[in-house]
Amino acid sequence: MDFPERLIFDGMNIPPFRPLKENVEKRFTEIRNLECRKDDIILATYNKSGTHWIWEVVCMLIKGNTEYTKEIKEFFFLEAIPDLDVVHNLPSPRPMNTHLPYRWLPKQLTEKGGKIIHVIRNPKDVAVSLYHHLVDFGLSNISFSQFMETMFMIPSPAFSMGSWYDYVKECEQAAENDKHGAILTMFYESMKKNPIDETKRLAKFLNVEASDKLIEDIVEKCSFGNLKNADKTIKDQSILKKIIDLPSVDGQAKPNIYRKGIIGDWKNHFTVALNEQFDKIYAEEMKNSKLPIQFE
Ligand code: A3P
Repeated sequence: MDFPERLIFDGMNIPPFRPLKENVEKRFTEIRNLECRKDDIILATYNKSGTHWIWEVVCMLIKGNTEYTKEIKEFFFLEAIPDLDVVHNLPSPRPMNTHLPYRWLPKQLTEKGGKIIHVIRNPKDVAVSLYHHLVDFGLSNISFSQFMETMFMIPSPAFSMGSWYDYVKECEQAAENDKHGAILTMFYESMKKNPIDETKRLAKFLNVEASDKLIEDIVEKCSFGNLKNADKTIKDQSILKKIIDLPSVDGQAKPNIYRKGIIGDWKNHFTVALNEQFDKIYAEEMKNSKLPIQFE
C-alpha cells in the first residue's frame, strides 16, 4: 500500500483525517478553543485503548438506558469530523472523544474543570491492535516486527498522536495536578477484569444515578461480543467515508475495531528479542511513572 505522506505537527505523526490534512493547526486550535459547557464530557485516549467500548458505556450511563447509540463514536470525534459545528448543536451533556494529547484538549475544560476520561491500555497490546488496524487499511506486506521497528518504536508512531509514552505521562501529570476532580483515569485491563466496579466508578464520576441492575445490563450490552454485533447490525457507519483520507482504500475503509478484545494478545506477536528490546525502552521511559500498567 502507499502509506500516506507523513504530516508532522507538534512532534506528532498526524493521522490522515481530512480536516487535519487540510489544516492541522486550524483544527487543533479550534479544539483547544472549543466553547465548552460545564457538563461536557471528553473521552481522551491514545488510539486502540478501548475508546469505542468506554464511549458506549458513557453514552448508556448518561441516557440511563441500554440502547445502543445509533451513531458510531466517530460522529463525535473532534479532530476528524468534517465540521466541528456539529458539537455546538448537541444536547447536554455532550460526550465527545479525541486522541489529542492533554495539552491540546479544550482550554475551558483543562483550566476550569470539566469531565475528562482517560483510558490507558498497556502499550504492547496497543501496538498489536494498531498493527492490525493498519493491516485492515491495506498495509499487507509488512510483518509485525517490521511494523514495530519502523512505525511504533519510533518517536512518533504511525497513525497516532505522538508516542504512547508521551501521551500517558502527560495524562499522569494532568491527573496529579487535577484540583477540580475533573479527570478520571481508567485502565483497559481493569475494565476487562472488573467491569461492574469500573462502570460504577465511571457512573460516580459522571454524577449519574445508576442502579445495580442498570450497571449489570450496561456491562452486558457493552461486552465485546455484543458491541461487535451491534457495530455490524445497528450502527450508522456513514461518517467514516467522510473523515478518512487514504488513497489506497478510496474512503471505503472499514477497520475491524472489534478484533479480539483481550489482554495479552501481544504474547502471540512479540518475539523474545523484540520483547526484550521493548522492555528496555519501557523501563527507561516509565522510570518516573507510577501508572499501574497491566500487561496481563
Ligand atoms: P484489539 O484490536 O486488541 O482487539 P479503540 O476503540 O480505542 O480503537 O480500541 C480498539 C480495541 O478495543 C480493540 O482491541 C477492540 O477489540 C477493543 N475493544 C472494543 N470493545 C471492547 C470490549 N467491549 N471489550 C474488550 N475490548 C474491546
